[in-house]
Amino acid sequence: MSTRPIVIVSATVPEDLKALITKDLDIHFVPVGESIEEKVPAEVRAQAVGILCTVRSQIKESLLAGMPKLRVVSNFAVGYDNIDVPAATRANVLVCNTPGVLDAAVADLTMGMVLCLARKLIAHDTFVRDGSWTKGAAPLTNDLAGKTLGLLGMGRIGRMVAKRAKAFDMDVIYCNRRQDAEAEKAGLARYVDRDTLFKESDYVSVHIPLSAETKGGIGEREFSMMKPSAYFLNTARGAVVDEEALIAALKSNKIAGAGLDVMVKEPMDPSNPLASLPNVVLQPHVGSATVETRRAMMALAVDNLVNAVSGTQPKAMVNADTWAAANQKAAHV
Ligand code: GLV
Repeated sequence: MSTRPIVIVSATVPEDLKALITKDLDIHFVPVGESIEEKVPAEVRAQAVGILCTVRSQIKESLLAGMPKLRVVSNFAVGYDNIDVPAATRANVLVCNTPGVLDAAVADLTMGMVLCLARKLIAHDTFVRDGSWTKGAAPLTNDLAGKTLGLLGMGRIGRMVAKRAKAFDMDVIYCNRRQDAEAEKAGLARYVDRDTLFKESDYVSVHIPLSAETKGGIGEREFSMMKPSAYFLNTARGAVVDEEALIAALKSNKIAGAGLDVMVKEPMDPSNPLASLPNVVLQPHVGSATVETRRAMMALAVDNLVNAVSGTQPKAMVNADTWAAANQKAAHV
């Protein structure tokens, strides 16, 4: 039997990046979406020094309890709400993510959905295919220029969206825990309070992480403040929204429509009422899912994993204070 350290991988890793892992480590593979806690034998979990996973793996305290040698959980995502970070910190397990490399791709999708809603791209595609065009002209749509885009969250992704919206001559406002002096100085966006953001925007776009603090924080109160002509966009996490309140607002035309790349339960079942609403554009959580971006994310996730296991401080750490203690654990390669 091999005596090399074991890492658990629950992600699809291209062969050349996989070779960076298997140079010094053995991989125990778990198909994406399957539970590491249930599918990996206890003796493998007890030996494993690292986990490389997607947001579909739940990394809970009960899993960590059976993994005394674990040094790192490298998440193939910028968000890490699938990981109990406080429990990882208590267990001296470093958590890593992939910030910075996916901002443009998520911002592109956001603007794609804004354009799709403004110009009714999906309805007009149907209009051509079903012969409606032969019977008359298609309904008019709306300009983006002069409309207000409100960004709830002004981190790296929010800033990328602002940049793109400015190129479409939109007016950009934002609300964030901290004011972004740099973005304001660059003329990218203007700070407003949260209620003003919902009241004044023609498009509200969400770019905040999911946490205990933000869970379900956008609900009936927020939708009732929005203009009936306004659209709601979410490329962050479904659970930051009270989905039932969103569905009610869409059904009653309290708001004009929504563009959603994320839902509370993913993969979304087609029986979800969102699927039968004509004023909604749905995407299967693909904000970062381009060939180029997913490659850059995986390269960073593998780098984080291999570095943490071999005793080199990784580039992207969520609980950086844990690094020293995680690095004390045996199993350097
Ligand atoms: C994707 O949702 C991510 O967090 O990277």
